[in-house]
Amino acid sequence: MSHSLLENLITTKKARLAVIGLGYVGLPVAAMFAEKGYDVLGIEIREDRVRMINSGKSPIEGDEPGLEELLTKVVGGRQMRASTNYEDLRDRDIILIDVETPVDETHTPRYAALKSACTNLSAVLKKGALVIVESTIAPGTIKGTVLPLLQKNGLKLGQDFFLGNCPERVMPGKLLTNLRKMSRVCGGDSPETASVMVSLYRSIVEADLDTTDWATAELVKTVENTYRDVQIAFANEVALICEQAGADVFRVRELVNKSPFRSMHLPGAGVGGHCIPKDPWLLAYGVEGSEVPLRLIPAARAINDQMPIHLVKMLQNALEKYHRPIDKTRVLVMGYAYLENSDDTRNSPSAALIGGLDALGAEVVVHDPFVEEFKGDVFAKANGCDAVILMVRHDEYLKLDMQKLVKNLRQPLVIDGRRVLDPQNAVKAGIDLWSIGVGS
Ligand SMILES: NC(=O)c1ccc[n+]([C@@H]2O[C@H](COP(=O)([O-])OP(=O)(O)OC[C@H]3O[C@@H](n4cnc5c(N)ncnc54)[C@H](O)[C@@H]3O)[C@@H](O)[C@H]2O)c1
Repeated sequence: MSHSLLENLITTKKARLAVIGLGYVGLPVAAMFAEKGYDVLGIEIREDRVRMINSGKSPIEGDEPGLEELLTKVVGGRQMRASTNYEDLRDRDIILIDVETPVDETHTPRYAALKSACTNLSAVLKKGALVIVESTIAPGTIKGTVLPLLQKNGLKLGQDFFLGNCPERVMPGKLLTNLRKMSRVCGGDSPETASVMVSLYRSIVEADLDTTDWATAELVKTVENTYRDVQIAFANEVALICEQAGADVFRVRELVNKSPFRSMHLPGAGVGGHCIPKDPWLLAYGVEGSEVPLRLIPAARAINDQMPIHLVKMLQNALEKYHRPIDKTRVLVMGYAYLENSDDTRNSPSAALIGGLDALGAEVVVHDPFVEEFKGDVFAKANGCDAVILMVRHDEYLKLDMQKLVKNLRQPLVIDGRRVLDPQNAVKAGIDLWSIGVGS
């Protein structure tokens, strides 16, 4: 198969597609291509996920507008199916890889899923197929890890298969909209491969599709998430300064952002999710062993990782007024997902907060309307608690009846890590409010 044959299969929607890894990213991608008329096969190692998807149900529990309906439609219409069997990939013309790419405690990429996907795929890859890695990877991974694994069985790049990197930019809660509306970078093994990638993604993307090489595509994705992490760290450091200076960081930010070319990010109770806490380490890994000094990226990671522990310290300070030692305190943690209205708990700042509270002997009760383990009535959970720490801006918390909350608490202490509560209304309700970035 050649580039022109692939182009033709894409234009006529006869290209048989596959997506390996049906999680937050792979599942909506597969469903969207299926909706556009392609025959799509999803390969997923989790059998429970495969069963659920093949019955038209989404395994993602957070608010994900349109996803379940789309899945029901494409699975019901036989445009998409899921399987655990890599043998089913033998007739696929285009294969997208969307498996997880975490880092370990030493900040080293853990590519077990990626390596296994590439190794298994190599054994069944159709001649002339196009493989596209959508997962976020460290600079140099396509050349140093993915390519050698795909070539393991004697396959040759450019003759037996083509290879691209097109990182995803989605966020849970907006998966389908982001996929449609956000621009993408198509890094190919050659300009011709990148151009075929543009034709493919044009089927679902209504924004710019820029062509480039593998390394640039890898860098763009890891740099954009590192940029965000560094900006949030800056806002968090300013929040700590404001607490000391007796100012309100949200007012400071508002006024700073009136100055031209300033766009200060929001501070908060920490940074979570699968991507932002690890993508800076993927970027840093790209220069591992070189002489490039890394100062800013690790500093930003340290600041953001420290924010939940800062809230533990804030609680200890606040408790002094009540003469209550922390090991005699029952704390309600509101929100466990890393993001508002999502069920995604990966790298949850609340987990770090709870670890800090546990270490000091506090009793912890957790509520989250989206996370199965922590669902329930928030007021019932507040009953008998000595303090609340608000960790996530879930819609349910924005509408919270503060007076009812206070009635259920043993003492009216609330620490707001996300500026969820309106300070004036909170005071009116009798809440002793401590907010991140607000000094007195
Ligand atoms: N979650 C996000 O918001 C987001 C946004 C942009 C980019 N990304 C990137 O996309 C990639 C995927 O992230 P995600 O959030 O969808 O992860 P995820 O954990 O939700 O999904 C990955 C899926 O791959 C499956 N899997 C693992 N190994 C497999 C294998 N060998 N064969 C088949 N299936 C396998 C897992 O069981 C899982 O269902 C990551 O590199 C991530 O950094 C994620």
